[in-house]
Amino acid sequence: MKTIIVAIDGYSSCGKSTIAKALAQYAGATYVDTGAMYRAIALYTLRHGLQDNESVIAALPQIEVGFKRVPVISPDGKQDGFAQHVTLNGEDVEPFIRTLEVGNRASEVSTIREVRAFLVAQQQAMGTHQSIVMDGRDIGTVVFPNADLKLFLTARPEVRAQRRFDELVTKGEKPVYEEVLADVNARDYRDTHRAESPLRQAEDAVVVDNSDLSREEQMQKIIDLFNQTIDKPD
Ligand code: DC
Repeated sequence: MKTIIVAIDGYSSCGKSTIAKALAQYAGATYVDTGAMYRAIALYTLRHGLQDNESVIAALPQIEVGFKRVPVISPDGKQDGFAQHVTLNGEDVEPFIRTLEVGNRASEVSTIREVRAFLVAQQQAMGTHQSIVMDGRDIGTVVFPNADLKLFLTARPEVRAQRRFDELVTKGEKPVYEEVLADVNARDYRDTHRAESPLRQAEDAVVVDNSDLSREEQMQKIIDLFNQTIDKPD
């Protein structure tokens, strides 16, 4: 059977992972969250007190990043599908990588060329034998320039800040909207201005601005694009 590769890139807080997971499920493909891989390396550097780039690069041979398929248990105790958890030297580190501290460190280590080369090689290997939906910042431009379908997700910064604000409130935090918006703008700037593989739209990517789309409308649009892709003759 022909395998298919979908590359999803875009700004932070655009809902990339929600869409990528749903599309992977629809397509019967494996979902790969590349941000989680950068976060796993960031966690390693924090745990081992590695601060300068040289010591991070020197540690790479001791770092093994992988994924593990774990069952999802719903609140009523029933199994509800599977999720991919990132592993660091065999340990499931998913519970530790979603903090602000690890996110900020991931943003730093992702600027190191050797770290990117290390992870990109692994990401490319994942696409050789299975269908995948991969999300990140450089998937359509660097990791899979020949992906079958490339999506570039975007939304107005104010809309993304509001979503992030609502998420933090749900977690019981007391965010200040203006600060969240400033953070979104700062991350956009960092992601698009770094020297190594900055976030940019691949020329052949389809741009989906979801500022004014409901989740259902967006999903339908993406499923239509996916179906057009697989119906296309080789
Ligand atoms: O998507 P995320 O917030 O989990 O990503 C964490 C950091 O890693 C973020 O600063 C961007 C960076 N990243 C990257 O440089 N390239 C990728 N393919 C994925 C994430």
